[in-house]
Amino acid sequence: MKTLILYKSFTKNTEKVTQHIAKILKMEGFTPEILKIEKGTSVELYNYELVFLGSPVHAFLPAEPVMKFIHSQLDIHRKQGDIIPCSPVIPNKYAVCYCTYSGPHTGIREAVPAIKYMEQFFEHLRFSVLDEWYIPGEFRNKDILSTKGVLGDIRNRPDKNDFLNIERRLKKLLEKIKIKSSTDSDSGQNLQGEFIPNAMKFMAENVDFFNNFKKLNESQKTTSSLNISTQTLIKIALAASYKCDDCLQFHIIEALQNGITDIEIKDALFCGAIMGGPPFLSFSFEKLKKLGLT
Ligand SMILES: Cc1cc2nc3c(=O)[nH]c(=O)nc-3n(C[C@H](O)[C@H](O)[C@H](O)COP(=O)(O)O)c2cc1C
Repeated sequence: MKTLILYKSFTKNTEKVTQHIAKILKMEGFTPEILKIEKGTSVELYNYELVFLGSPVHAFLPAEPVMKFIHSQLDIHRKQGDIIPCSPVIPNKYAVCYCTYSGPHTGIREAVPAIKYMEQFFEHLRFSVLDEWYIPGEFRNKDILSTKGVLGDIRNRPDKNDFLNIERRLKKLLEKIKIKSSTDSDSGQNLQGEFIPNAMKFMAENVDFFNNFKKLNESQKTTSSLNISTQTLIKIALAASYKCDDCLQFHIIEALQNGITDIEIKDALFCGAIMGGPPFLSFSFEKLKKLGLT
């Protein structure tokens, strides 16, 4: 699978993450090409099956050179006729967007527009966006923003734990690609950017229902007064209490993708156990075990 990692970095946080992604990919048998975005960078993305795009967050958006890169590539692809209504996905074209951010004022919500912006680029090119990674990064030379912000003391981040998290998510992502590739070729279905575990096949067989459900889910996420992490943790506890195996797996993966830690997930399950008792706990922890989280 031809793999490209595109990135921009000014103070090396995103660069460190990029190098780590490359290292893991190599360990997993890939030969990633790495390209740092500079003025005038252009690349034929359709030559690759898996593309990573990473940027620092600047004023809630990707850094300016990344924005310029996105605009120039969109212009090229528009002229080539690649951008068409409804953006039907091209099979086996996958993307992952990642950012490093300091979140001093509103936390992860500062980084969400940057990631969504990059994702829209890929979705317009009809890639399936499989993952989004938000990695805290020290605000270099602005000590107060690295110590007194919403994320607390983020000096020296990304750190060892962040890299471990990336490694775990990347390995899961590669598994997901394997499952998705076989699902796509088995059924001819292309459910954009979604991981479809077993019983979610119902969704795959009912695409309109699935799309409406997805829209409802997305709009609820963005209009809620609760932040994404809180919403996801509530969903985890509810999925476990309904004993919906696939829902629980789906929301745990979603949580990990959003930077929620194993410990926070377990704490959410312990909260649920107050109402659900031992059967709730044994069901939940069986799932954590299966996902390699215990
Ligand atoms: C000009 C500038 C603007 C920034 N704006 C934001 C912001 O809006 N939200 C945020 O969370 N972090 C912001 N940051 C912090 C960076 O996103 C963060 O430190 C990132 O990890 C830097 O990545 P890099 O070392 O790869 O350049 C900003 C940093 C700079 C220099």
